[in-house]
Amino acid sequence: MQVVKTPEELQALCLAWKREGRRVGLVPTMGYLHEGHMALMDRARSLCDKLVVSVFVNPTQFGPDEDLDKYPHDFEGDRATAEAHGADVMFAPEPGAMYGPGHATWVVSPELERNLCGASRPVHFRGVCTVVTKLFMLAQPDVAVFGEKDWQQLAIIRRMVRDLNIPVEIVGQPIVREADGLAKSSRNAYLTADERALAPNLRKGLLKAAGRIEAGERDVEAVKAFVREEYARTIPMGEIDYVDLVDPETIAFVDRIDGPVLAAVAVRIGKARLLDNIFIKV
Ligand code: PAJ
Repeated sequence: MQVVKTPEELQALCLAWKREGRRVGLVPTMGYLHEGHMALMDRARSLCDKLVVSVFVNPTQFGPDEDLDKYPHDFEGDRATAEAHGADVMFAPEPGAMYGPGHATWVVSPELERNLCGASRPVHFRGVCTVVTKLFMLAQPDVAVFGEKDWQQLAIIRRMVRDLNIPVEIVGQPIVREADGLAKSSRNAYLTADERALAPNLRKGLLKAAGRIEAGERDVEAVKAFVREEYARTIPMGEIDYVDLVDPETIAFVDRIDGPVLAAVAVRIGKARLLDNIFIKV
């Protein structure tokens, strides 16, 4: 596996592969790779000839008071993981190589950014859409794999690719969890032992809510209140950022549950802001 540091080098390499008729796959990450990322790499590997894994803590998707400076790093570990999961290239640029002086062009998708994480992280999805577009222009992938853990991100990228006619197939990968149900996340490293012990209740609350909906509950406010009560009881130190029910594709709030719905939550536990979601077929 080759480690590529500059955008120019990655683009030249991938354009050469494309000219040879190779099918290129891309898995964008911010590193500190765990089993969730590994599932994405394995999936992508099965769908392409040449696999590019990017490891880049994208500064533009972090707000001024967020954890950019504290975001965990493990370059050697990531290199070994990417190689073991079949990457041909690990792309690990410096921030200055991705954002030159005077960078002034952004990709935004205002409607899909309005709710959930976009509401509490105003510049976040602008940074995500911009860096993912840049990665698409550099790697020229035929297929790119993203996790359902960040469902809103996946929905926005699908829409961006459709709206801008970007010639890439977007594949969504189910959430990989710890044995106790906690979604794997690089940010789980921020949890203390006590916080870690309660964190699986995030998932448990969502499963109970899904159970209520499957049993016939159709009132959105009742479901949201139920989840909030569950969290108040089972994660007492947690601060809820949001508990919402949205249309899985448009991320618009739903008034009543009368079709497939996504229940999505973000809860701050200590230094970590944890996300989870569940797709509920109705
Ligand atoms: P990061 O948080 O590193 O996640 C990279 C990819 O791994 C995303 O598609 C995310 O949804 C997926 N992922 C993370 N944890 C997962 C889990 N437990 N199960 C399944 N998939 C999981 O998301 C980002 O980085 C960035 O926003 C990025 C897209 C790289 C743009 O900077």
